[in-house]
Amino acid sequence: MSLEPDHYEQYAADSRSGIISKLKKHLDKNRFEHCVRVEATARELAAANGADQTIAGLAGLVHDYAKQRDVAEFQGLIRRFQLDPELLKYSRAIWHGYVGYLLVQQELGINDIRILNAVKYHTIAAPVMSVYDKIVYMADYLEPNRSFAGVEMARAKTQASLDEGVVFQNQQTMTFLIERGQAIYPAALEAYNALVPKS
Ligand SMILES: [Fe+2]
Ligand SMILES: [Fe+2]
Repeated sequence: MSLEPDHYEQYAADSRSGIISKLKKHLDKNRFEHCVRVEATARELAAANGADQTIAGLAGLVHDYAKQRDVAEFQGLIRRFQLDPELLKYSRAIWHGYVGYLLVQQELGINDIRILNAVKYHTIAAPVMSVYDKIVYMADYLEPNRSFAGVEMARAKTQASLDEGVVFQNQQTMTFLIERGQAIYPAALEAYNALVPKS
C-alpha cells in the first residue's frame, strides 16, 4: 500500500521530524516506537476507510505524547482547565488521552479538532466517534507489536468493518476492567452504552 507524504506541518507547529524530537524528549524508547507503529497502522486504516492519511497518521503519532507525564502535571491541568473533578480519582491511564490532548495542543501546536479528539478518546472511546477517533482507537489496539489473546480476531473484524472493531475492543476493555474490579470512568461507560449493539 503506498502512503501519502506526511506534511504534518499543515496541522502542527512542526514538521514530522520536529514532532519526533519532542516525542523522544517526553517518552522512553518503547513508548516512542509504539507511537511510530500506531502512526503507520492509523495511515493504513485511513487508506482502507477513505479517510485522510495525514490527519490519521499525525493523530496516531502523537496519541501517547502525554503518557509519561507526572501525576502532578495532570492534576494541575485538571484544576487549571476546570475539568470534571471526578477525573482526580482516576490515573494516568485515563488522563494521558482525556486530559493529555491539551498538552498536544499547547506544546505541539496542533489545533485541528479531528486530531485532538482522536487523542482525547483513544483510551476510553466516546458515544459519538469520528472516523479519526475510531482509527486511532483501533490503531493503538492493533499495531503490529500487539500480541494479546484475540488480537487476530480483532484485526479480522476491523478489516471487515472499522465499526465492528471499535465495538469489539470496547467490549473487551470493559470486560477486562470489570474482571479486575477496576472503576470505570463515567464517560467510558457512556461510550460503552452508546457503542454496544442493542438487542
Ligand atoms: Fe494511550
Ligand atoms: Fe498507545
